[in-house]
Amino acid sequence: MSENLLEIRNLTKNFGSVTALNNISLDIKTNEMFALLGPSGCGKTTLLRIIAGFEYPDSGQVLMNQSDLLAIPTRTRPVNLMFQSYALFPHMDVFSNISYGLTNTSLSKEEISKQTFEIIEKIGLQEHVKKKPNQLSGGQQQRVALARAIARKPKILLLDEPLSALDKKIRQEMQVELKRIQHEFGITFIIVTHDQDEAISLANRIAVFNKGEIKQISSPQELYENPTNEFVANFIGDGNLLKAVSTGNGFQHPSLGEIVVSHNSGSGKQISILIRPENISLVKASDGAGEITDSVFAGSRKNITIKLRTNEIVRVYADKSASLEIGDRVNLSFKPQDVRVF
Ligand SMILES: Nc1ncnc2c1ncn2[C@@H]1O[C@H](COP(=O)(O)OP(=O)(O)OP(=O)(O)O)[C@@H](O)[C@H]1O
Ligand SMILES: [Mg+2]
Repeated sequence: MSENLLEIRNLTKNFGSVTALNNISLDIKTNEMFALLGPSGCGKTTLLRIIAGFEYPDSGQVLMNQSDLLAIPTRTRPVNLMFQSYALFPHMDVFSNISYGLTNTSLSKEEISKQTFEIIEKIGLQEHVKKKPNQLSGGQQQRVALARAIARKPKILLLDEPLSALDKKIRQEMQVELKRIQHEFGITFIIVTHDQDEAISLANRIAVFNKGEIKQISSPQELYENPTNEFVANFIGDGNLLKAVSTGNGFQHPSLGEIVVSHNSGSGKQISILIRPENISLVKASDGAGEITDSVFAGSRKNITIKLRTNEIVRVYADKSASLEIGDRVNLSFKPQDVRVF
């Protein structure tokens, strides 16, 4: 495992009575594609702005390679923030937009030109060198902004919702492209998004934020399979969160009955259980635990909605050929190891 490039320690930032970041700590490793994911207003942009030097925290530390990043003036930090609106210069062509980032350096004109053409080639903008931003598609403008942001070879590129202005298909293409570029240039990316699918498909690790706090930091797979709290369970992926009572060696649910599953909740406590839709099997039974209230064809599967006797709603992904119809009563089965308890 590579070493930590960035260490964020007990960072707190208040705006008046609003706590944007509440004592957060996290490490980011060299060459990571790290995502900050969370609902609107949870502090994602504030964290990027502190790393970039546009805000200063009330308390806490930010270290890059073990030395104090907050002590380095904004302009000379080896960090670049790419804004959501790409802010390309409308009167400049693609070449000038990209080379602009290199103009205040000690590089000669020839060297600037050489480096700019190298980036243009790597990002695949060769055909567009002389175009102005308004002659480019959204995806192409995005690439120019990206090229400009990495021209100075920052150690860390901060991207705040970089793909949110693009439509779905171009967005998916750009996700693949971002990964390729990150790999090719060997720059650490910290990317902010409130779209969980985007975070999951892009990042090697994700920090899930809520209300200025970090709820979990894990790989996408780990967040999906082993959320450590109810917020993450709810926020990541489709899930069924049901209320149950712990029994010491499992739980009791009024519709699903008693299930043996190891957890540390003690006995007699109100708990929440998470079961993913793909981990539930359905068997028709006239006295079944629930009734099918909706069944939707979804290409490779059927999305089934069930209402339990408790009135709780459960979603299940069933085989597309399953003969399950609205109004059928069904029993639900699942493996104890697929149940998470909170
Ligand atoms: N300059 C500021 N002055 C006052 N309040 C601010 C300022 N900047 C951010 N906030 C507040 O801090 C909180 C966190 O804001 P932030 O922009 O970091 O959220 P976010 O997670 O990026 O949200 P979004 O997904 O909507 O962009 C919000 O309640 C916001 O209103
Ligand atoms: Mg934001």
